[in-house]
Amino acid sequence: MNSAYPIAVIPGDGIGPEVVAAELKVLEATGVPFEFTTYPAGDTCEAETGRALPEETLQAALASKAVIFGAAGNTAADVILRLRVELGAFANVRPTRAFPGVACLFPQTDLVIVRENSECLYAGIENTIVPGVVTATRVITERASYRIARYAFQYARDNRRSKVTTVHKANVLRKSDGLFLRCCRQVADEFSDLAFEEGLVDSVAMRMVLSPEDFDVIVTTNLFGDILSDLAAGLVGGLGLCPSANLGDHHALFEPVHGTAPRIAGKGLANPAAAIMCGAMLLRYLGRIEAADSVDKALVRCIEKGRTTYDLGGGLSTMEMAEHVVREMQRSS
Ligand code: NAI
Ligand code: MG
Repeated sequence: MNSAYPIAVIPGDGIGPEVVAAELKVLEATGVPFEFTTYPAGDTCEAETGRALPEETLQAALASKAVIFGAAGNTAADVILRLRVELGAFANVRPTRAFPGVACLFPQTDLVIVRENSECLYAGIENTIVPGVVTATRVITERASYRIARYAFQYARDNRRSKVTTVHKANVLRKSDGLFLRCCRQVADEFSDLAFEEGLVDSVAMRMVLSPEDFDVIVTTNLFGDILSDLAAGLVGGLGLCPSANLGDHHALFEPVHGTAPRIAGKGLANPAAAIMCGAMLLRYLGRIEAADSVDKALVRCIEKGRTTYDLGGGLSTMEMAEHVVREMQRSS
């Protein structure tokens, strides 16, 4: 396959453009043929055009092989939540692992959170019943619950993981999380080669901080997944190290877990590691496993040697760190 993969690139705001530029630099060095086209979205785009997610950007995302996203600021919900829905990207896969050489609470952490991406409290149904009383509707459907549970178990099997933990609050949210849990249990029966465990979200949050090595693949609803994945990031040294993939039947979007980091934006200080790992996830999605391994290994070596941005104790700029990753890739090829 020699024709170039058409990729829509949406850098967004804040540190988004900086980390995406670093990611593209590394992807270009793999030799895999890409055709990157950049499209606007986010706060600046809204200020300039009146639209946070222009129709042209949305159509380009739908027409591309995959999307690379940076971050959006105050308009994040209008941009990224909408893109996830429009692309039918129902699974948000968030791997979190510790890196050798990074001081962190739990160096043995290596877990993957599979977060349901399309419903729950993020369905966006909020109503003012009377002034001073607001409701938010939590939507849980059988269809989406089966779909995400199957995705998580299949992911575990394909990636040689041994256990799936479903995280819920079905003792209180009896109907909504009761349904989610029932679907997970049923799917677990279809995957008897994998261990299955159930955990209440509050107790899982505590266990993740005491012994994160107990967890392998976690499958959960949208809000719990959002919160637990930032918690997981904290276990391994911060948001600069956490990539994510939004996957559906026909589309894929890759984005760092972090946001626009306004305090460090525009200064070349942002850690590009999460974005570079997003690039490796994109390569895996395209079946370019060798190139993905090469990027992941080069990044590990780079971090191990202390060639990092300030947040990990190094003195490199965002692009200098990407250049070091490229050098490590070339050294081992
Ligand atoms: P944030 O992820 O932007 O920053 C949280 C903390 O982590 C800050 O101290 C920041 O400096 C640090 N940080 C984040 N990424 C880093 C990196 N690559 N290298 C070094 N340090 C890094 O989250 P915050 O502050 O809650 O939100 C800022 C803005 O980003 C808000 O407007 C929010 O709406 C938006 N946001 C957008 C997301 C998206 O587009 N998917 C996701 C999360 C937040
Ligand atoms: Mg979040």
